[in-house]
Amino acid sequence: MGADQRNGPNNDLETDFDLVAIVAVADNGVIGRDGEMPWHIPEDLAHFKETTIDHPVIMGRVTYEGIIEALGEPLPGRTTVVLTSQDLETPANAVVANGLEETLEAAERAARERHETQTIFVAGGATVYEQFMPVVDRLVVTEIHDTPDGDTRFPDLDRETFREIDREQRDGFAFVQYERSKTPVPFSQPDNR
Ligand SMILES: NC(=O)c1ccc[n+]([C@@H]2O[C@H](COP(=O)([O-])OP(=O)(O)OC[C@H]3O[C@@H](n4cnc5c(N)ncnc54)[C@H](OP(=O)(O)O)[C@@H]3O)[C@@H](O)[C@H]2O)c1
Repeated sequence: MGADQRNGPNNDLETDFDLVAIVAVADNGVIGRDGEMPWHIPEDLAHFKETTIDHPVIMGRVTYEGIIEALGEPLPGRTTVVLTSQDLETPANAVVANGLEETLEAAERAARERHETQTIFVAGGATVYEQFMPVVDRLVVTEIHDTPDGDTRFPDLDRETFREIDREQRDGFAFVQYERSKTPVPFSQPDNR
């Protein structure tokens, strides 16, 4: 999307690619516990794979390390761009980037040169959703109808900014898509009093 439709602290980030956040979130906002997701829903894992396959996927270092622990390797068939301030060694299908601009550039390069796609996914965790939320075009959300304990939460969804465009109800959860509203957000005047 164009930078003119964006607002918030990261509105100087610009990309011609579609940025899509993908997340599974419980009714109480929980997305993680002890570095993992507090549920195991094979249909959701299949949905994640089907949606993100052959695209760049941006994630934070903690989420990346959780995947390495679970799978022994980064997500196959995708380029993982790992946000970190550290100098991590990664296999060929993962790259590290420090800061949002560097991350977006690395994801754009992978989208153009490896995947030939217009879409880049933002796959968490909480710190990464938080930072990219002001610039994502769309959200692919699995809404889990449960209230598990957890230590990591998804930022509150601003329903004036994102409108629901699709919902597929399943047993105990729903696949939902939200799109950034095309209506420009009113410019707030600085308070000079
Ligand atoms: N339910 C879901 O869909 C879902 C999806 C993803 C993750 N999760 C869960 O979320 C939890 C992890 O989330 P989290 O918020 O704790 O961690 P995270 O966002 O995965 O990773 C945090 C790390 O990312 C790096 N980072 C973030 N912003 C950066 C920036 N601007 N520049 C440089 N580095 C940056 C830092 O790494 P360094 O410390 O190395 O600098 C930071 O410590 C886990 O429980 C995971 O299972 C759930």
